[in-house]
Amino acid sequence: MSKKKLLVVEDDTGLQMQLRWSFDAYEVLLAGTRAAALAHVRRHQPAVLTMDLGLPPDPDGASEGLALLQEVLATLPDTKVIILSGNQERAHALKAVAMGAYDFHQKPVEADALQLVIERAFYLHALQQENRRMLQTQADSPLAGIISRDPGMLKLCRSVEKVAPSSATVMLLGDSGSGKELIARGLHQLSTRQDKRFVAINCAAIPEHLLESELFGYEKGAFTGAIRQTPGKIELAQGGTFFLDEIGDMPMPLQAKLLRFLQERVIERVGGRTEISVDVRIVCATHQNLKALAEAGRFRDDLFYRLSEIVLAIPPLRERSGDCALLAHHFRNKFCASEGRASLSFSPDALASIEAYAWPGNVREMENCIKRAVILSDGPQIRADDLGLPETAPVEDKVNLRQAREAAEYRVMVMALARADGNIVKAAELLGVSRPTLYDLMNHHGIKSGG
Ligand SMILES: Nc1ncnc2c1ncn2[C@@H]1O[C@H](COP(=O)(O)OP(=O)(O)OP(=O)(O)O)[C@@H](O)[C@H]1O
Ligand SMILES: [Mg+2]
Repeated sequence: MSKKKLLVVEDDTGLQMQLRWSFDAYEVLLAGTRAAALAHVRRHQPAVLTMDLGLPPDPDGASEGLALLQEVLATLPDTKVIILSGNQERAHALKAVAMGAYDFHQKPVEADALQLVIERAFYLHALQQENRRMLQTQADSPLAGIISRDPGMLKLCRSVEKVAPSSATVMLLGDSGSGKELIARGLHQLSTRQDKRFVAINCAAIPEHLLESELFGYEKGAFTGAIRQTPGKIELAQGGTFFLDEIGDMPMPLQAKLLRFLQERVIERVGGRTEISVDVRIVCATHQNLKALAEAGRFRDDLFYRLSEIVLAIPPLRERSGDCALLAHHFRNKFCASEGRASLSFSPDALASIEAYAWPGNVREMENCIKRAVILSDGPQIRADDLGLPETAPVEDKVNLRQAREAAEYRVMVMALARADGNIVKAAELLGVSRPTLYDLMNHHGIKSGG
C-alpha cells in the first residue's frame, strides 16, 4: 500500500528536514513557496498539509500563507490545513482557522503532539470522503435528479418514495419551473410500473379541438384527416404512468370525459364504439389554484376531488433554504462539462446576487441563467454581470451566524412567552433557562415583561 501524502509548506530548510524525519510514516512532500505548494496540491491532492504562514516574499508577515490557504481550499475544499505558527503569530493563526484551516500548532514543533493532530486530520478527511461516496451511491436513486438540502424538499422526496408504489392518483402543485415533471417521473420510476411507459401531455399546449383525440385516440374516418386508427396518449401509457400537466387548462367538456375515464377506467376512441380498458396511474400537475377555479365554475368539483387523492406541494425555490447556491453550483458543473469549458467559479458578488434574487421561474430559470452565464463568461470566474440578474442591495450579512442565532433565539423566546401566556417562570421552564437568564434575553431583545 502506498503511504498517505502529507505536504509540508515551510521555507526554513532545517525545519523541513526535521518534519520529514518525524513523519516518515507518510510520504512527505516539501514546498518552500506558495507556487511550489500549489503545484503539489494540484498534482498530488494531499489530504493534509502543514503550513508556515510566513513564506517568501513576506517571510515575516502572513500574507503569502493566508493567500495560499485560500487557494488550497478553493482547489481542494476537504484538505486539512494545519498552521504551524510562532507564539507572536497567534492572531494570524486564528485568522487562518477562521478562513477554513483545520487547526494550528505552536512552534517550536513537538513532533508527538503534531503527529496526533495530523493523524486526526487524516482520519477526518477519510470520513468525509467516505461520506461523499455514500452520498454518491444514494445519488443513483430515481430521485437523484432532485438536488436539494431544504428540509421541506427532502420531506417531499420522502413522501414521493412512500406514495410511488401505491396506485393513488397524485396531484402535484407547484409554480412553473419548480420541478413538477421531475417529481412525476420520480413517482413513475419508483413504482412497480417503472418498466412500462411514462406518457405526458400538456393540456395548456394543445388546442382544445385536438386535445380530445390526443387523449383518447381516434378511429379511421372519425373526422377529416383521420386516415388511420390512432391510439390516444392514455392508451399508450397502458400499464404505466400518465402525466397530465397543466390540468387546470383542461376545457370543461373534456373534464367530463376524463372524469368518466377515472371512474370506469375505460376509454372510447373518437369515432369509435368499443370500450377499451386501460390501466394507468394518473399523476397531474398545475400551477393554478384549482379550488378557486372550481369556485369560479371553470373546473369540475368532482374531478378536482377525484384527482386529489394525494396532493404534493412543491415549494418555490425562494423558500428552499440554501438551495439557490447548491443548484447554481450543480448547474455550473453540468454546463461546464457539456459546453466543454474548464471549471469556472462564482465570484462572491455573483453568489450574493443568486441568493438575493427571488427566482420567479424557479429551477428552470436558474438552469437557463447559469447556462447563459457559463457560455458568456470569459475568464475563470462567473461574475454578477454574467448572470444579468437585477441589482440587489449587498447581502454580505446574509450568512452571518450571530444574526441567524439572534433571530432564532428571538423567535423561540416569543413562542415560549406566548405558550406560557406571558408567565416568565413557565416560559423560562419551557426554554430550559433560569428566570434571570430569560430576563436578560428579553432585555437584550427589547421585549418588555408583564403587561
Ligand atoms: N431540485 C432540482 N434539482 C435539479 N434539477 C431540477 C430540480 N428541479 C427542477 N430541476 C430541473 O429544472 C427544470 C425544470 O423542471 P421541471 O420541468 O420538472 O419543472 P416544471 O415544474 O414541470 O416546469 P414547467 O412549469 O416549466 O413545466 C428541468 O430541467 C429539471 O430537470
Ligand atoms: Mg412541466
